[in-house]
Amino acid sequence: MKAFNDIADFSQEQISALLELANRLNENPEPQALSGKVLALLFLSPSLRTLASFQAAMTRLGGGAFVISPDMSIHGLETRPGIVMDGVAAEHIREAVPVIASYGDAIGIRAFAERKDLQKDLDDVEYRSLIELIDTPYVNMESAAAHPCQNLADWKTLDDLGIPANGGKFVLSWAFHPKALPLAVPASTLQMAAQRGMDVTVLRPEGFGLPEQVMAKAKKAAAASGGSVRESEDRQEAMQGAHVIYAKSWSSIAHYGDKIADQKHREQYVDWCVDEPWFAPAETDCRFMHCLPVRRGVVVSEAVLDGPRSVVIHEARNRMLAQMAVLHQMLGGAS
Ligand code: CP
Repeated sequence: MKAFNDIADFSQEQISALLELANRLNENPEPQALSGKVLALLFLSPSLRTLASFQAAMTRLGGGAFVISPDMSIHGLETRPGIVMDGVAAEHIREAVPVIASYGDAIGIRAFAERKDLQKDLDDVEYRSLIELIDTPYVNMESAAAHPCQNLADWKTLDDLGIPANGGKFVLSWAFHPKALPLAVPASTLQMAAQRGMDVTVLRPEGFGLPEQVMAKAKKAAAASGGSVRESEDRQEAMQGAHVIYAKSWSSIAHYGDKIADQKHREQYVDWCVDEPWFAPAETDCRFMHCLPVRRGVVVSEAVLDGPRSVVIHEARNRMLAQMAVLHQMLGGAS
């Protein structure tokens, strides 16, 4: 595997093979599989899970990893193209990325959306400009448009819980958050559930519909997998018979790049905090999923997050196992 960039790049069979490998590595560890291999990790945006789980994954497979981020003791990094560097930053990302990549057998890059220009973010322009600088294998650790490692871990979580693929009802729900957040997780989670063959409802208030480009891509995947994709503003109706609700906040497309207008709009929906009454129309054992980090009492009630519906820790651990499978395939461990 040369790149792990977008869950949409992989067939159901390829994903099944990765998940079988993840399960095998969990049950039968291979502590020498990547002996002598090095993974470079470049974090241009913050992290807890991705930062820890990639290093743990490499260590468990016998390899090593190193991390570079702007808040370490490195030269100030300039990211703007075509700039005259007569300010504070002493190093440009155009040199930094290939240098870091040259020390590893593969590189993982995290670069969140700028959230100024919707089309630029949907087309992952900044992230693509970085991977064009390298010829080593690479992993998308979350870009403006995609978070494939989260998607693979979430697919595994759904499998682990026995939630049906075809016929399974998946609700991707917008939730309140004080800040305008990126589209990578909601867009790629929608894609994942559609590719898995689930009946997906995007539940969101007015003004928070996902971009047409994202919906069209997911609908195409659903048509191929036997699933479906629809939108609703009606919580009761959307949650009817749901097997899982996946909560996430995201920016208003209507006000993309305008923080003040977005904030004013979202403040109408502070009651979009997932709580036990939301589950009344759902399947009895309907699960709560979230990629984390999550704001308690804002995105989800403490009772739901700490209760039996919540599988957020299971999801987070699956990040490590899913990434072990990706790295094992990418860096040549015998499969
Ligand atoms: N879910 C996720 O990617 O978590 P981090 O941002 O902490 O890495």
